[in-house]
Amino acid sequence: MIAVVGSNMVDLITYINRMPNPGETLEAPDFQMGCGGKGANQAVAAARLGAEVLMVTRVGNDNFAKNTRENFEANGISTQFVLETETTSGVAPIFVEKSSQNSILIVQGANAHLSPKDVDAAREEIAKCSLIVMQLEIPLETVYYTIELANELGIPVILNPAPANPELDLYRIASCEYFLPNESELGLITGMPVETLEQIEEAAQLLVEKGIKNVIVTLGEKGVLCLSAKNKTVLPAFNVDAVDTTGAGDAFIGCFAQSLDAGFSLEDSVKRATFYASDSVTKRGTQYSYATAEEISFP
Ligand code: ATP
Ligand code: RIB
Repeated sequence: MIAVVGSNMVDLITYINRMPNPGETLEAPDFQMGCGGKGANQAVAAARLGAEVLMVTRVGNDNFAKNTRENFEANGISTQFVLETETTSGVAPIFVEKSSQNSILIVQGANAHLSPKDVDAAREEIAKCSLIVMQLEIPLETVYYTIELANELGIPVILNPAPANPELDLYRIASCEYFLPNESELGLITGMPVETLEQIEEAAQLLVEKGIKNVIVTLGEKGVLCLSAKNKTVLPAFNVDAVDTTGAGDAFIGCFAQSLDAGFSLEDSVKRATFYASDSVTKRGTQYSYATAEEISFP
C-alpha cells in the first residue's frame, strides 16, 4: 500500500488562445472542471494502475469537498483520512494554451491546514505502507514531520518538491529515498542554473551530495534524468502529439510509485512512468488524462 500525504484541489481549466493583458476581457474557447491537486493526482494515477492507496489530506466544508471525496472513492482510494476543515477547499485556476503549455494558480484552502497531528492520527495505517509520497502543497512542517515518521517506521519517501518552495530545508529532506523535481523546481531549490543538461546534472549532483539517494528530474518532452551516487541515466520521453501537459509530472510520480510498490526495479519504474506520463499529455484535463491499467500497454 502507498500513503499519499498531500493536497487535493478542484481544477478549473480554461483553454485559451492567449492570456489576457491586464485590464483586458477576452473570450476563451473552452473550459473543464475536474479533480486535481498534486497529491490527489498522484494518488489517482497510482490507484488506476492497481495500487492500494491511503490518502491523508484535508478538504473544505463546501460542495467541492463532497465531489473530491466521491472521486477518491470512485478510484478505490481509502478516504479514512480525508479530513474536513471549516474553510474552502483548495482550488486551481489553470490556463492551457494551444501549444499545450499551462499556467497554474493555486489557492491552498484546506490544504494549508494539514498538520503533523493529522499525520499522527493516520500513523497506524501509514505504518502498513511500503512507500510514502509527498509534494509541497501542504505546510512544510507537515512534510518534515512525515519524513521523520517515515524514517522511524523504515518506509522510503518519494518527495516531489512541487510547487517549488525556496524555503525548503534540504537538510530536513536529505533522508528521502527519491526526490523528483522538474527542471525549474530543481533550479529554484538549488539556486543553480538549469539551462543545459550539463547544468541540470550539476544541480542534481548537489542534491546527491546532500544525501538524497535518487534524484529524478523530469524534463518535459525531453524525458528524464536519473542520478544517484553510482549511476546516471537520461531517458527520452515518447514522441507524442501533446495537447495538454497539465498534471504530466503527477502522472509520472503516480506511476513511478505504483511501479516501485509492485516490485519493479528503479530503472523499469522510471521507464514505465515516462511512458505513462507521455500518454497523459495526449489527452485533455488532469486526472481525466490518466489511463487505467486496462487502458494502457507498457512497452
Ligand atoms: P506538470 O507541472 O504540468 O504536472 P511537470 O513540469 O511537473 O508537469 P514535466 O517534466 O513537464 O512535468 O513532465 C513529466 C513527464 O511527462 C516527462 O518526464 C515526460 O515523460 C512526460 N511529458 C511531458 N511533456 C511531454 C511531451 N510534450 N511529450 C511527451 N512526454 C511529455
Ligand atoms: O500538477 C498539476 C496540479 O497542480 C493541478 O491538478 C493543480 O491542481 C495543481 O495542484
